[in-house]
Amino acid sequence: MKVVILYDPGADDWTADDIAGVLEAVDDIAAIFGRLNHQVQRIPVRHDMRWFNACRGGRADLVFNLCEGVRGVAQWEDHVVATLELAGIAYTGCGPWTTGVCRRKAVANTLLERAGLPVPRWTIAQGKIEDDFPLPAIVKPAAEDASAGVDRSSVVTDRKTLKARIAAMTEQFDEVLVQQYIPGREFNVGIVGDRTLPVAEIDFSRMPEGAWPILTYAAKWHVGSPEDLGSRPVCPAQIPQRVADRLCRLAETAWRTMQGKGYGRVDVRMDDAGRPWILEVNPNPDLTDEAGLSRMAKAAGWDYPELIRRIAELALREAQGTKAARELLAAPPVPAVPRASPPPSRARTPRTA
Ligand SMILES: Nc1ncnc2c1ncn2[C@@H]1O[C@H](COP(=O)(O)OP(=O)(O)O)[C@@H](O)[C@H]1O
Ligand SMILES: [Mg+2]
Repeated sequence: MKVVILYDPGADDWTADDIAGVLEAVDDIAAIFGRLNHQVQRIPVRHDMRWFNACRGGRADLVFNLCEGVRGVAQWEDHVVATLELAGIAYTGCGPWTTGVCRRKAVANTLLERAGLPVPRWTIAQGKIEDDFPLPAIVKPAAEDASAGVDRSSVVTDRKTLKARIAAMTEQFDEVLVQQYIPGREFNVGIVGDRTLPVAEIDFSRMPEGAWPILTYAAKWHVGSPEDLGSRPVCPAQIPQRVADRLCRLAETAWRTMQGKGYGRVDVRMDDAGRPWILEVNPNPDLTDEAGLSRMAKAAGWDYPELIRRIAELALREAQGTKAARELLAAPPVPAVPRASPPPSRARTPRTA
């Protein structure tokens, strides 16, 4: 099978660490397909569309989509996925509607609420905010992910600071969302195809003194920072089965509402009264082996290659049906090396060793 792995090679302001972070999953996944004797190409996605030439016209049986944007701009991801969809090429993960809608948190929250799901009260702050908006509140960009714009000052407890934070965020981001802050435990529910994986929890008990128990940008990306060390994932979460079941059912409904396919992760908080609240639905979450989805998959008994194989199979099955997907994924036989006849004038040298 011919596998093309798409990824964003980044923008001028990306550090070597940023690029290495992207390439880690690209290289690991390439190695997994390589070991199965599939032909693998790693293709960076740029605006020039050369990437598409590497996929079209039968050049890819499967596109493994690790592209989370183009030049670091997340919204271009939807266009990449839409192009693959239009061209009828099998690709992993979610479709363009899901990636687009989930990134617009206001749109996603509206749909989730309309589906009857619990979403903490929120509003889009166009420079100002209602006087009765409940506090504490968290101020976050309305169309970013990966905790961009979320730091230790994101949670505010008084109106003056709330206004100042909104003003500061509006300078930086087009749309700013203010949401009621939910104190309590944070859980992640991973979904792969029709399987919901064991629930994970972020344990904030070692957060530095005075820091809010939230996943800030530093917690996610600055390895070894106090916020990273203070937010430890635990999987499976230490919760009663009935609580886990409830979180899973909630996440599944959220996933269906967002028309998720392939793989995703739903982030949930549970308040002190035991009520769960949906923070967001993440289509195509981080697939590096150290990231949450792989951890949850391991708790379900799948090692990393098995997780990747299943994600590939889901994409192939949707495009080609179950039988074709199995056949394509099966490791092809190592091509026999054609036996050359020995040159007539010379005797063959016996192999020693
Ligand atoms: N309403 C909220 N109440 C409490 N914590 C929140 C809330 N919204 C976000 N957070 C915290 O901020 C983190 C990042 O917010 P999230 O909405 O998941 O954005 P991102 O798309 O950047 O991951 C969450 O993992 C959580 O710790
Ligand atoms: Mg999140």
